[in-house]
Amino acid sequence: MSPLSTAPGVHRSDFRFRCIACGALSDTASQNFRCATCGDLLEITYPHWKESGLDAQNLKSTWCQRRLSQSAIDLSGVWRFRDLLPALDPSMEDDQQVITLREGNTPLYELPQCARITGVPRLLAKHQGMNPTGSFKDTGMTVAATFARRAGFRWVACASTGNTSASMAAYAARGGMRSLVLVPEGKISWSKLSQALDYGAVTCQLRTDFDGCLRLLQELVLRAPVYQLNSINPFRLEGQKTLALELLEQLDWRPPDHIIVPGGNLGNSSAIGKALLEMRDLGLIPRLPRLSVIQAEGANALVRTLREGSGKSLISVQAETRATAIRIGNPASWKKAAHVLEATGGACEQVSEIEIAQAKAEIGAEGIGCEPASAVTLAGIKKLVKQGFVKPQESVVLILTGNLLKDPDFTIDFHRGDLFKGSHDESASAALNDLRRPPIVLDATLEAVIRTLEQAEKS
Ligand code: F0G
Repeated sequence: MSPLSTAPGVHRSDFRFRCIACGALSDTASQNFRCATCGDLLEITYPHWKESGLDAQNLKSTWCQRRLSQSAIDLSGVWRFRDLLPALDPSMEDDQQVITLREGNTPLYELPQCARITGVPRLLAKHQGMNPTGSFKDTGMTVAATFARRAGFRWVACASTGNTSASMAAYAARGGMRSLVLVPEGKISWSKLSQALDYGAVTCQLRTDFDGCLRLLQELVLRAPVYQLNSINPFRLEGQKTLALELLEQLDWRPPDHIIVPGGNLGNSSAIGKALLEMRDLGLIPRLPRLSVIQAEGANALVRTLREGSGKSLISVQAETRATAIRIGNPASWKKAAHVLEATGGACEQVSEIEIAQAKAEIGAEGIGCEPASAVTLAGIKKLVKQGFVKPQESVVLILTGNLLKDPDFTIDFHRGDLFKGSHDESASAALNDLRRPPIVLDATLEAVIRTLEQAEKS
């Protein structure tokens, strides 16, 4: 075991499950990760943190020291923060227990051009698309897959808009487990589907949407010995918390004023919010950033729930958006997300298809790029600035959740001018022409290339 496996004075984090609605505590969770008493979602809680005297300074220096270690568990940008994660089995070597692809360790970029566009000079992007399978899902999957194997499961399964399935398939393969993927037919990008196939998943394209896939999975796990790896699984969210820990470490533990995250099934916002609240309670940060969630207009269940409803019951929608990763109408973790928005004083906003395409091209033009679902963050911050919710002097971190290469069809359609063809946005999309860089087909002559170069220089 690595000498740095726990911080001095820090005990392994024994955990329990707690129902988010009735508060019932339990040591075990059923296959569907729902409360045995009231049926609501479970979260993981650490009852011994207070009395074990977790010390913020100790934690920070331990996490920093682990960066010098070459052990697999320390090279992971998730397990490096394991003091705030469910405890591994103390009778086994840590390195042999964890299923890791060196997830986390993602860059924090400045976005100077986007900063000028939005009027927020301190604009940063935490790029979770730089994870091993190209999305933020890997940070949760390393933890949940590790606990699936530890529980003795041979099969893991998920419903997905693509990224979860890609990540699950990879971690299952690395951990010697089989995986079953349920995706909506024709509604996820080929890149994501190709990952699941290549990593060896049994991949089912169901004739329904994501919400239909998730419903079916919930029934399946009660009938078959498969372990579900959707973000309903609270181990996923524990792993995804480390995004926020790593971000704050990168900022020298000085919280930004705002963190902006896309909202789909609402697991990621819940995880980031949980991490922020835990960091505040442990004294790792002096104050909370505001955490805001942005949804696509066509998949705006949380926006509607908070605006039109009482916030007490979900208003689900029939989801439709080209940002297929967040094409979700009945988000499972909406209560958890609503709670962290309230606790941090964050906002919930929606953006149009045109605004998403524009923001995606603007992030691409920074030399960074992301998938469409991630671009809702930039589109959203523009709105929040206009509304005065984000002030120009405040610092903002956008969470870019997926890599540009996850959805090449969207990008190519945009640059060729085909993205909005035949849709009611077609004429409005002309406003985005300056951002388009269509490929140019030329005769293979030097003159043709030089002429193109000269024209480009003039434009
Ligand atoms: N961004 C990307 C790139 C995603 O893949 C997802 C969700 C989200 C944002 C939204 O995150 O669901 O935690 O609110 N993708 C899931 C999937 C649903 O199956 O890959 P969320």
